[in-house]
Amino acid sequence: MKRHLGGIGVLAALSIAVTGLIVLSSHDVTARGDSRGCQSAETGSPQAGPPGSSATGEKISLGAKTAIIPAPVWVIGSYDKEGKPNLMTAAWVGICASTPPSVTACLRKATYTHGNIMGRKAFTVNIASESLARYAAYVGRVSGRSQDKFLKTGLTPVKSTRVDAPFVKEFPLIAECKVRQTVEVGSHTVFIGEIVDVKADPSILGEDGVPDMGKLKPFVFSPGSSQFYGIGPSLGRVSELAKEADK
Ligand SMILES: Cc1cc2nc3c(=O)[nH]c(=O)nc-3n(C[C@H](O)[C@H](O)[C@H](O)COP(=O)(O)O)c2cc1C
Repeated sequence: MKRHLGGIGVLAALSIAVTGLIVLSSHDVTARGDSRGCQSAETGSPQAGPPGSSATGEKISLGAKTAIIPAPVWVIGSYDKEGKPNLMTAAWVGICASTPPSVTACLRKATYTHGNIMGRKAFTVNIASESLARYAAYVGRVSGRSQDKFLKTGLTPVKSTRVDAPFVKEFPLIAECKVRQTVEVGSHTVFIGEIVDVKADPSILGEDGVPDMGKLKPFVFSPGSSQFYGIGPSLGRVSELAKEADK
């Protein structure tokens, strides 16, 4: 039996790992120096400086593109017109409001999930642990139009009692969302979903009763190289780190 955890704070720990980090893709950095940015982009000569920056702070323009890493990995659950459950992976996603707790999921019209969510006005967000990475990869490469992805993977759909969408029994952290708004932005529709409940497997909860990164072991996506990456150890509490910078 899963414990019910209301509120957006439950996903905040995961959000910390995936927000606000704008860096060169590893491919581009490797082409010009090492992954710590310790060579000049112009000359290739060694430079002193903290990891991730050149001594001059010089940057190379990559052009207008989505080269912002890391991106979250969410598996979106939905029902089609006939009630067949479907899953798709989405990385263009995030938390967008604390009150009411809300998320955005940005989907192309071509996905089967897009029509499903338009019809049902609901979806689930399923967060995988590293051991489930292969499923997050598979459901992001095959369409529910031609495949029953639950049947293929052996994953178990569970009908949400809160929203008109299925969640994945085997995934340890779930958010059940009702669509409140849609916004068209170029290639994608932004689905704004209000989280009406978060469900967590007790095994991934810390002593404070909220999901623990170390126990959940979620992973992130690097769009440039199309790879999943694990998340490293904690760097410390934000309040303590802030003190170090507040000289
Ligand atoms: C890591 C990863 C992230 C993805 N992110 C998105 C996304 O944010 N939006 C989107 O429309 N498609 C995204 N895709 C592609 C869809 O998951 C893919 O087209 C999928 O087959 C759609 O499934 P469906 O047709 O059953 O809905 C992603 C794929 C992968 C592997």
